[in-house]
Amino acid sequence: MAKKIFLSRIIPNPGIELLKQSEFDIDILYKEKPLSPKELRERVKDIHGLICLLDDTIDKELIDAAPDLEVISNMAVGYNNIDYHYAQSKGIAVCNTPGILTQSTAELAWALLFAIARRIPESDTFMRDGKFTGWMPMLMLGGDISGQTLGVIGTGRIGTAFALMSKGFNMRVLYSGKPNPVLDKELNAENVDQETLIRESDFISLHVPLRPENRHMIGKREFDMMKPTAYLINTARGPVVDEKELISALKSKKIAGAALDVYENEPDLTPGLDELENVVLTPHTGSATVPVRDKLAVMAVENCLKILRGQVCKNRVV
Ligand code: GLV
Repeated sequence: MAKKIFLSRIIPNPGIELLKQSEFDIDILYKEKPLSPKELRERVKDIHGLICLLDDTIDKELIDAAPDLEVISNMAVGYNNIDYHYAQSKGIAVCNTPGILTQSTAELAWALLFAIARRIPESDTFMRDGKFTGWMPMLMLGGDISGQTLGVIGTGRIGTAFALMSKGFNMRVLYSGKPNPVLDKELNAENVDQETLIRESDFISLHVPLRPENRHMIGKREFDMMKPTAYLINTARGPVVDEKELISALKSKKIAGAALDVYENEPDLTPGLDELENVVLTPHTGSATVPVRDKLAVMAVENCLKILRGQVCKNRVV
């Protein structure tokens, strides 16, 4: 009997086509929303390969409900939705999709940075509401970008790409964590402790994975240290920021603004966040370009097929 693969959602067509051409039995859930944990457990009972998305919770219970499971292939670079330690203890491979979305996510972080500093969404609404009655010296004043200090927390692939994109803006670049020779060489960047970065940056952009030690990495203490003119950009994972404290910092103008692509309790927003003017919100779209999503889908399928075929998969995280 052929091994069975379950794909938990509609993904771009190139991925689905590749899956259909394989020698395996395929079960595709043609839905756009995730299944509940109970529904998902029902669906995985007899599968060998699971291709899932970042909002599918693959915890111990789910893994225990799939005794034949050999591979969990996440169509995402982050894999905090998977209990990968438990999967590893059961001999189940876990794969992700790194590399492909590096530039698109870094680009979105820059789009958010511009959008919040130059008040683009607010200006757009202003125009559509017919409020533009003529040039005004004090209309839609925002923050400078060129020559400012950029703080990058997390300089893996995406953080490094994001920092490198600052080249045209003559910025002082600070980063925390491990030394990054590329940023040192290309940008003369300064490797500083996190507190210095938070105190001195005009823009702080987050690019760390969600691990227990990073949860609420930016909370009250950090907002208290930030400049009142500073902006926070988050394209990493929502729980890295304490959203309640963020709302309070934005309300009290402790910081100038925030631009977010990810949320603490996705897809829900902490009440009050969407009522603030000094915030720009996008719906977790760091990798959302047509070519990138096509490639992510193909990579997620390929990872699963390789493991089930007993081939080497370079995107195996455990
Ligand atoms: C997106 O957030 C990803 O991890 O791929």
